Amino acid sequence: MDIPWWRDAVVYEIYVRSFADASGDGVGDLAGVRERLPYLRGLGVDAIWLTPFYRSPMADGGYDVADYRDVDPLFGTLGDFEALVADAHEHDLRVIVDIVPNHSSSEHPWFQAALRGEGRDRYIFRDTVNNWQSTFGGPAWTRTPDGQYYLHLFAPGQPDFNWRNPEVHAEFLDVLRFWLDRGVDGFRIDVAMGLYKAEGLPDVGDQSFKSVSPVWGQPEVHNVYRDWRRVLDAYPGERMAVGEVWTDSPEDLALYLRPDELHQSFNFAWLQAPWSPTAFKKVIDDTVSTVPFATWVLSNHDVVRHRTRYGTADPGTGLARARAALLAMLALPGSAYLYQGEELGLPEVTDLPDEARQDPVFFQSKGKLPGRDGCRVPIPWTVDPPSHGFSPGGAEPWLPQPESFAELSVEKQEGVADSTLEFYRRALACRRELVRSIPYTLEWLKSPEGALFFARGPLICAINCGTRPVRLPKHEEVLLSSAPLRRGLLPPDTAVWLRSASTAPSAEE
Ligand code: GLC
Repeated sequence: MDIPWWRDAVVYEIYVRSFADASGDGVGDLAGVRERLPYLRGLGVDAIWLTPFYRSPMADGGYDVADYRDVDPLFGTLGDFEALVADAHEHDLRVIVDIVPNHSSSEHPWFQAALRGEGRDRYIFRDTVNNWQSTFGGPAWTRTPDGQYYLHLFAPGQPDFNWRNPEVHAEFLDVLRFWLDRGVDGFRIDVAMGLYKAEGLPDVGDQSFKSVSPVWGQPEVHNVYRDWRRVLDAYPGERMAVGEVWTDSPEDLALYLRPDELHQSFNFAWLQAPWSPTAFKKVIDDTVSTVPFATWVLSNHDVVRHRTRYGTADPGTGLARARAALLAMLALPGSAYLYQGEELGLPEVTDLPDEARQDPVFFQSKGKLPGRDGCRVPIPWTVDPPSHGFSPGGAEPWLPQPESFAELSVEKQEGVADSTLEFYRRALACRRELVRSIPYTLEWLKSPEGALFFARGPLICAINCGTRPVRLPKHEEVLLSSAPLRRGLLPPDTAVWLRSASTAPSAEE
């Protein structure tokens, strides 16, 4: 069987404005990403996912798109994008771009026309409102000067499209082709379960992300992805789509992954699981038994970084667990999504001053929620302030970096054997060697209390989530461990990869 590239790919998420700034204005850009391609190649990932870099007034960090076919001057030009794709391919890295179909920016020409009374049916305008709330806080409706209201499930600057209007379908098919023609290898689909709202827009009791509700997951959405799949399949080179799909069951998630729909969807259940072998095992079982092509993710630009999630009380524990969780994740069948900076062990920055915050979640919740800026602080490349090598020429980065970033910088960790960066490099290199020669299935091994052992052919992964050291399963060789083993035992908050004694590596059918 031909294995598609994305099945086992390790994809690295680049939150463009926080990755690397080449222009010197304190904001990351496409040229900055391009300069760092050798770093990414050296890290050992297979693909990059770029968060939105399209023209945008930045009401939600670029997830408010004013022109789907152009690059915002903040991030560069279309020429910079083309050069980045060409260079990435030279480095053997695939490029996935974000597509935002649920809503546009309020600055989008269609919405501007709608405000003037032209083509309102491309959005959701009503004379009266229902009880829906914005995901970021406050009502999901904003009144326009002529008295009608428009729906925005996110910020007021992000009006929701009306997907019951065929013009919206045609527009997005064309946008997909625009970027496919420029060589992108795939799309990450923002709020992929949004798009359709129930006819009549009934009031709801609970508006959290649900598999199917009047707000999310209306069944018509599947036809959109069937159309998109046909477009992707018509291009050479295995172009793919990964959906940001929030559901409350793995079965509902699997509906998006039927053979004529999306290739992949994020598996948020893994990211939401607490530090517990039972919780991990349940998510893994649910996933591999329901989803044809699994994905795994620990952090992204919307959630608290996993180092901090796993160790709020003790940052050391958080880092040890984060490293162990990486080994577990990379040993699972499927593809893994990394978030920039996790390879440095960056924590969530929890003490950003209010004046620095930019996330609409902070403002719409009237400061009750800190928002997502803490995981978006620019990457420290070098030890020295003011920007730790993020920006050239002494510019201050768009979000302040804490002093602790100096110690976590790439410069500080490069070549240091037990650094998190070098650990990620070893893990990714080892996985690359193994991944195509081991079965795409997983077998549970008998595990001591607090630990979880599983095997994929000759590869055994053991993770200890408990409080006491545990004996390792029978093995021939230790391939890699997230922290030193102690007298042959696996310490708490540690994971290890072993080569089993009995089985020789077997090629997959
Ligand atoms: C997705 C994005 C998030 C954004 C939201 C609205 O959840 O990941 O960053 O705020 O959609 O576009």
